[in-house]
Amino acid sequence: MSKGVLPTHVGIIMDGNGRWAVRQNKKRTEGHKAGAKNVELITNVAFSMGIKTITLFAFSSENWKRPKEEVELLFGLLKKYFKTHIKKIIKNKIKLNVMGDLEGLPEDVREIIKKQMEETKDFNDHVLNIALNYGGRAEIVKAVKTALEKGEEITEESISKNLYTYDFGEPELIIRTSGEKRLSNFMLYQSAYSEFYFTDVLWPDFNEECFKKAIDDYMNRDRRFGNINA
Ligand code: FPP
Repeated sequence: MSKGVLPTHVGIIMDGNGRWAVRQNKKRTEGHKAGAKNVELITNVAFSMGIKTITLFAFSSENWKRPKEEVELLFGLLKKYFKTHIKKIIKNKIKLNVMGDLEGLPEDVREIIKKQMEETKDFNDHVLNIALNYGGRAEIVKAVKTALEKGEEITEESISKNLYTYDFGEPELIIRTSGEKRLSNFMLYQSAYSEFYFTDVLWPDFNEECFKKAIDDYMNRDRRFGNINA
């Protein structure tokens, strides 16, 4: 039984699409298709549980090194996702946010994203934050530069204020699927006090039960933030 409070912000590193496909003698791209399908399921589960913000690591700034066919398929899936789900996203009052270097994205993807961010900007019940062409170190550098441009003194607070996620709060929990136990440049600054949950389950197989198990595990932890009396 859970004893703690539900996290308000959960980050997910959706890993293992390629291995899922290879294990079934399918092309890696089939794994990404299955992974994209799972995004809808898990975000629905999370929001219906009352979690406010979900941040998904969809495409890192390092993912450009993948074969052209795979990169094109990933952007195709993202476009399809944005086009297919926008009505439901608006109906459910979800704010859609994309964080990362948007200028480096294909123009058609960037245009859809900008339009949909604009259309959902006033919703505040839930946030679906998608990290695209994103890297945590680059985000910190950008935050420092922005703070300097604004004439702000460089402090932990001023850096934090200029991160993409400032309005959403820091993730209390970060989940990574597929057995890898690292952050891979995901929300480096924001994860200072995050709890981590690693599972061997590959992202396309990470179902409602798996997600609820991760949340339950988190809710049973003691979070002390460095204070032994907390
Ligand atoms: C990691 O699996 C997954 C990615 C690099 C991409 C994640 C993208 C999606 C789930 C689909 C589109 C997203 C949205 C938001 C609709 P991997 O290829 O690194 O797997 P492997 O480690 O087994 O090779």
